[in-house]
Amino acid sequence: VRAGLEQALRDAVRTARLAPGVRLPSSRALAHDLGIARNTVADAYGQLVAEGWLVARQGSGTRVADRAPLVEQASSSPVAEQPPPRFDLRPGAPDLAAFPRAAWLAAARRALSAASDHALGYGDPRGRPELREALVAYLARARAVRVTPDRLVVCSGYTQGLSVLCEALRGRGATTLAMESHVLRDYREIVAARGLRLAPMTVDDEGAVVAEAGDADAMLLTPTHQFPLGAPLAPQRRTDAVRWAVEHRRLVVEDDYDGEFRYDRQPVGAMQGLAPEQVVYAGTASKTLAPGVRLGWLALPADLVDDVVEAKTLADRHSSTFDQLTLAQLIASGAYDRHVRRARLAYRRRRDRLVAALARDAPHVRVTGIAAGLHALVELPEDADEEELIARAAQRHGLALAGLAPYRAAGAHARGPALVVGYATPPEHAFTAAVARLVAALVERE
Ligand SMILES: Cc1ncc(COP(=O)(O)O)c(C=O)c1O
Repeated sequence: VRAGLEQALRDAVRTARLAPGVRLPSSRALAHDLGIARNTVADAYGQLVAEGWLVARQGSGTRVADRAPLVEQASSSPVAEQPPPRFDLRPGAPDLAAFPRAAWLAAARRALSAASDHALGYGDPRGRPELREALVAYLARARAVRVTPDRLVVCSGYTQGLSVLCEALRGRGATTLAMESHVLRDYREIVAARGLRLAPMTVDDEGAVVAEAGDADAMLLTPTHQFPLGAPLAPQRRTDAVRWAVEHRRLVVEDDYDGEFRYDRQPVGAMQGLAPEQVVYAGTASKTLAPGVRLGWLALPADLVDDVVEAKTLADRHSSTFDQLTLAQLIASGAYDRHVRRARLAYRRRRDRLVAALARDAPHVRVTGIAAGLHALVELPEDADEEELIARAAQRHGLALAGLAPYRAAGAHARGPALVVGYATPPEHAFTAAVARLVAALVERE
């Protein structure tokens, strides 16, 4: 009864039904009106006085406290999730309906049963040893990465990895980062927010023109499959980038976000293997499993470990032990590899179907980039209007699309018009319809 009365009074004050300065009935009178004990009312008043909602003054009873006017919350809850679009071909996510829920749950159960109590406390900022050991073996076998567990730092995705790297670089006096002309806008913002200047490098059919890095302190690349333009970094440019870093004692950051997914040949191994003391390798579970896992990893040159560990410690001490132990178990049991193999096959088929449908029904557009990853660049005729097409697809077809323009750094050479089509995004049952809607949006008259 007391808690209910307190809450009712708090709500009345918050919504100004009881205005500041208003005198409340005496506890005796209110108790009488409500048919409850006087002490209950007196206790509720006392509690609200202690919390600052009411003031009690000798001789003048209990009044509503003066408070700064409150901005009322919007009626729709700010935590409500936006409903997903009916059809979604935006890039960024794998097929979330294919997340290996049963395997993840089994791994979580096994991991938690095996974990000591001690493991659940604060731990090594680099991450759980179990995960770092599992990753060392996995990365060597799947991506030709050469690293030891002491040089791996587990982060909350590449996003945090980039952030702590920038902080470490800034702390060492770095001022400029060379980045591909087209990247996720968030990454440009992270780099700028950490006080580093961006130097865009042109991207052509052979990937980033690494010679344009000039005297930048570090170079950020997506060498396996440029995001979003889709070219791999040509072998000569890979060598040039590594030589640039070795000769000038600078750093290359290799964002290997979708390195597991190559369809026309064996995946090309990571650049990091060429020069582990000059190349930071960055991987993530966001494409192989789901972005919601929020786990990524940095394989670091020896002399960068301490600075990155310090930045990671200050950011959040370390990533979630529970999720790390689960992922470690998933990898060690072979379930992770099985899932990646299944996903690779499914996405490869989807890409083939997309390419075939566009060649057949929308021959005025061109799919470029290698057969890899979870997205394809669909180049539109020169006079096409990306924004208009995206708005029309949403309105008429319930189809969410992404254009190329937002990825371009200010001042960089413009490419496009084009769409960045994420063919992994829809659940399997909606893929055919999503592609049909894409075709319809591409061929219809405005
Ligand atoms: C180019 C690129 N790198 C990395 C990532 C992964 O980021 P995170 O690991 O923070 O989810 C993405 C995700 O969209 C990406 O597009």
